[in-house]
Amino acid sequence: MRIVLLGAPGSGKGTQAKLLEDKYQLPQISTGDMLREAVAAGSALGRQAKSAMDAGQLVSDEIVLGIIQERITRADARNGFILDGFPRNLQQAEALDQLLNGLGRPLHLALLVSVDVDALIQRLVGRRTCLSCGQMYNVFYAPPHMDGRCDACGGRLRHRSDDNEETIGNRLRVYETQTLPVLDYYKAQEKLRTVQGVGAVADVFKAIARIVDKVKASTKSETRRNDAIRAAIAKHKATRKKPGKEPRSAATKTVKKKSSTMISILLPVKLLILFITMIIPQSLKKF
Ligand code: AP5
Repeated sequence: MRIVLLGAPGSGKGTQAKLLEDKYQLPQISTGDMLREAVAAGSALGRQAKSAMDAGQLVSDEIVLGIIQERITRADARNGFILDGFPRNLQQAEALDQLLNGLGRPLHLALLVSVDVDALIQRLVGRRTCLSCGQMYNVFYAPPHMDGRCDACGGRLRHRSDDNEETIGNRLRVYETQTLPVLDYYKAQEKLRTVQGVGAVADVFKAIARIVDKVKASTKSETRRNDAIRAAIAKHKATRKKPGKEPRSAATKTVKKKSSTMISILLPVKLLILFITMIIPQSLKKF
């Protein structure tokens, strides 16, 4: 399955992508995570991306498309993937289609996780993420037992540098202006499905899994249908006869045999009639 997760900042794309990864054994590909890793590593790419990320703006398409192309063509993404945070504008959506169609592996599903703006701000400002295992907390409604430490592994919790009110405002504006048109793009392709991203994480996931299972089932029957058509065409090609060398069927052979027998009986009879009606009268006249 090839899935794109769409949604505003803080809608729960990352949370749900991890659950999808576990259930369907597909890699989560998060452009945000990959860019943050590049920034933390201090690579040239990270240095270029940092200022845009700190300002809550999109990193250039050139950088992001390069990262995606390299990641999608890795072996572990052969059977599918979950794209989290990509595409974020129309150019990225079109480039993704071009890339996937070129590989003969088109996208199956674009899934929107829909959440109100008010809820988003509280989620983002309060978010803390474990640097070791990635577990997420929220200081307002799901805090860790020990301040700054992960309950699961004891790792240090990080507050993302772009999770402040000013940058969150910019990220939401960018979503409204640049990412919303992507929803219409997938709607026109009939690939867009929407789930409400509010309520317990497990309940949101149940709704997502129901959609994924349905699309997966229809994809399977479509694949089976295509395989059957392909097999029938291959079989037809293999047994196709060269023009002009059409072998005779048994029925054709019988008809031909019968008609040659008829000819061999009728011809002498016809000659005899000719002899009686034309030659004999002529000879009698002369006589
Ligand atoms: P990115 O890392 O992708 O950030 P984002 O899209 O702003 O999304 P978030 O990661 O903030 O939120 P999320 O939807 O994943 O929610 P989460 O599950 O974490 O991008 C960061 C930056 O990188 C961008 O601003 C841009 O600069 C750059 N970038 C990335 N991709 C790019 C691209 N394609 N092109 C150009 N630039 C790009 O959850 C959020 C919080 O809510 C957590 O605390 C979580 O515990 C909580 N939560 C989740 N679900 C629920 C629930 N059901 N109820 C209550 N709380 C919940």
